[in-house]
Amino acid sequence: MTPIVTIRDIAQHEGQVVTLRGWVYNRTDKGKLQFIQLRDGSGIIQCVAFKKEMAEAEFEAASKLTQESSVIITGSVRKDPRAPGFPGGWEVGIQQMQVVQVAHEYPITPKEHGVEFLMDHRHLWLRSSRQWAILRIRATIINTMRNWLDNDGYMLVDTPIITPSAGEDTTSLFELDYHGEKAFLAQTGQLYNEANMAAFGKVYCFGPTFRAEKSKTRRHLMEFWMLEPEMAFFSLEDLMDMEQQFVSHIIQSVLEKHPEELKILERDTSHLEKALPPFPRISYDDAVKHLNELADKTEDPEQKALLKIDWGTDFGSPHETAIAEIFDKPVFVYHFPSVFKAFYMQPVEGRPEVCRSVDLLAPEGYGEITGGSERIYDLALIEERAKQMGLGLEAYQWYLDLRRYGSVPHAGFGIGLERTVAWICGLPHIRETIPYARMLNRKYP
Ligand code: 4AD
Ligand code: MG
Repeated sequence: MTPIVTIRDIAQHEGQVVTLRGWVYNRTDKGKLQFIQLRDGSGIIQCVAFKKEMAEAEFEAASKLTQESSVIITGSVRKDPRAPGFPGGWEVGIQQMQVVQVAHEYPITPKEHGVEFLMDHRHLWLRSSRQWAILRIRATIINTMRNWLDNDGYMLVDTPIITPSAGEDTTSLFELDYHGEKAFLAQTGQLYNEANMAAFGKVYCFGPTFRAEKSKTRRHLMEFWMLEPEMAFFSLEDLMDMEQQFVSHIIQSVLEKHPEELKILERDTSHLEKALPPFPRISYDDAVKHLNELADKTEDPEQKALLKIDWGTDFGSPHETAIAEIFDKPVFVYHFPSVFKAFYMQPVEGRPEVCRSVDLLAPEGYGEITGGSERIYDLALIEERAKQMGLGLEAYQWYLDLRRYGSVPHAGFGIGLERTVAWICGLPHIRETIPYARMLNRKYP
C-alpha cells in the first residue's frame, strides 16, 4: 500500500510513490502526455499522465476527465521548479489512476462569469483558488483571535442566539415566533457578555449575529460573525490599548502564515505591514472639524457634499475613508455623540452629549472594523437611558441586576469578522468573506 498524502505535505515525500485523492482543477492534453492540475482542498499539484507509464485503459480514462471530476491518483513525487500549483514546484508522475466520478459539465469555467452567477453557484465557487485563499485566511483569523484571547486570560463564554429583547437598535431586528411569543435573533452577544464578565472577569463570545439591515452596501451582511471581548475594571483607554495589540497581532499572523494566499489574491500588503501599535486616536469632535476643513478645500462639489458633516450625525463611508486616509494606519475615533449610539454607553464626565465609545477604522476605505465602549454601570443612569431609547424595562431586569449586585466600570467591543477578512484580503465587497452570504437580495444557496 502506498501512503495516502495531502498536497500540502507533498515536500515530505520527494522521490516516493504516494496516493493523492481529489478533483481535477484543469487538464491539458498533449497527445501522449496529459497534465492534470489536481486539487485536494489542501493545495493544487500538477500530475503528469504519460502514455508509456500507465495502463492503456487508465490513460484513456484520464483523457475523458472533465473539470471537477473526482479521482484517486498514485504516482511518484518529483521536484520541478516550473510546475504550477500550491505549493508550486512539485509534480507527480502518474502510475495508476482510479476515476471516482466523471463530473457533469461544470458551470464555472476559467472564463469570466458575472458575480450574481457566481453567487448563485456559491456552493461550487468555493472550490476556486481565490475563494479557497479567502476562506483559509478567514479560518486563520478566527483561530488567531481565539488563541490570543485564550492565552491572555480571557474565557470564551457563549451567548444565546434567540433573545427576548434588542441588543442594539430596535430597527434592525429579525423577529421570530417563539412558541407563540415574540423573540429576536441576536444582534450582539454583548448584554450577556456583561453578565459573564461579572462572573469570569475577562470574557469573550464569538458567534453569528443578525441585523435586518435595509441597506445594500459593500459592508453589510444580514448574518455576520462577531467576536466580542468584555472586561471588568476596563476604561476606554485600556480598551484602545488592548484592541491595537489584538488587531495588529491578527494582521501580522496572516502576513506570516499566508503569503501564498495573499499572492493568489494579488494583495498589496504594504498597508497591512504598517498596522503596528500604537494606532492613532482622534476624537469625534476633531474628526468632524477635519472633515469640514477637507470639504472646504475640495473643489469638486460632489466630493464636497460627501465630506461635509454636521456635528451629531454618524459617519458615512466617505467620512470614514477620509479620516483613515490622514493616517494610513488603523485609527481610533472616540467620544461619539450619544444620540446615535447605543443606550448602554457611558457618558463623558461633564459632557453628557458624548459617550465613552470608540470605533476602529481600517485604512484603504475599509471603514469601521470594531465598535465598543465603556458601559454605564450606575443603575439609575442606565434605567434612564433605556427609557429614553424607548426600551421596555421589564425585558431588561436581568441586565439591570448587573448594576444592582456588585456593579463595576467595564468596557468591551465587537470586531466584525467579515469586515476584517475583507480588509486583510483587500476585497472590494463583503460577500466573498463568508462561505454563504446573507444579503438584502440573497439567501440562496
Ligand atoms: O458597532 P457594532 O454594532 O457594535 C456592537 O454590536 C456592540 N454590541 C459590540 C460590543 O461592544 N460588544 O458592531 C460591531 C462590529 C462593527 O464594527 C462591524 O465590524 C461589524 O460588527 N458589523 C457588521 N458586519 C457586517 N455586516 C453588518 N451588518 C454589520 N454590523 C456590524
Ligand atoms: Mg458600530
